[in-house]
Amino acid sequence: MAHKTWRLVLTGASGGIGQALAKALAPYCASMVLVGRNGEVLEALRERLGPHLVRIVVGDATQEATLDAIAAAAGELGGVDLLINNAGINAFHAFESQAPAALRSLLEVNLLAPMLLTQRLLPQLHQAPSAQVINVGSLFGYLGYPGFAGYCASKSGLRGFTQALRRELGDTSIAVRHFIPRAARTPINAGAVEAMNAEMGVALDEPADVARQLCKFIQGSAWEYKPGLKEALLALVNHLLPALPDRAILGQLPVIRKHMPASVRHAQPRSS
Ligand SMILES: NC(=O)c1ccc[n+]([C@@H]2O[C@H](COP(=O)([O-])OP(=O)(O)OC[C@H]3O[C@@H](n4cnc5c(N)ncnc54)[C@H](OP(=O)(O)O)[C@@H]3O)[C@@H](O)[C@H]2O)c1
Repeated sequence: MAHKTWRLVLTGASGGIGQALAKALAPYCASMVLVGRNGEVLEALRERLGPHLVRIVVGDATQEATLDAIAAAAGELGGVDLLINNAGINAFHAFESQAPAALRSLLEVNLLAPMLLTQRLLPQLHQAPSAQVINVGSLFGYLGYPGFAGYCASKSGLRGFTQALRRELGDTSIAVRHFIPRAARTPINAGAVEAMNAEMGVALDEPADVARQLCKFIQGSAWEYKPGLKEALLALVNHLLPALPDRAILGQLPVIRKHMPASVRHAQPRSS
């Protein structure tokens, strides 16, 4: 990566994609604020990347105190000009019996926390000659998928937020952008999702590949990154001709149900 050195704030830095991103971006950063809940992983990352460069914030991104700590750390390090909202959770479950608390968490972590952190850091982002906010979304923000109702809602909300804020800040020096990784081999896909992906032959990227793609994206100016032609086409077809993916996903439903926690097959309505 050429040109400037970034003042980075990265959430989800203790996760699969986040750790890979921190390692890939470190040579191009003047300072890094790495955020997550797992202090041990973050401390090891700080040791590896250089304690002089890295400040860690251990906390739950949905809590005001964590937002305060992130803003304070960035301020002490001279500000922020690259915010990557990467923290996220998933919960693969039949919607009908999914715990309301799980749905609330999905929306809080994946949607509300990045919105509130971005708002909190905007004064510092405005100070920079040029700055970027990159929100890490998902193809499921475009494509509703069984077993992921809460996750799809959160990521489609994140896409809407990204587009709206990009336009609202269109006459400023802050670019607000949307990055969509392909399915990757990280803890977010553990358990039932991993088993379903394996049965369906879903190809998984390595976190280091995702980090490379994001580093390249940072250097460009497109508002959004979709990982491949297949994903871009899928999103487009789903938008223009949703009956096609409706039919294809109906065909996948038996396999999805086999892996989906608490899935119940209801009696089919009788056709007269
Ligand atoms: N992997 C994929 O297939 C895939 C595909 C499309 C999009 N994505 C998106 O990519 C992003 C990174 O995911 P990943 O694959 O790297 O998952 P991951 O390995 O599970 O990492 C998730 C990260 O988010 C952090 N996090 C979760 N809840 C948090 C909370 N309440 N407060 C603070 N931090 C929290 C975790 O912190 P702790 O571990 O410290 O708790 C961890 O650092 C997510 O936004 C995900 O939706 C992933």
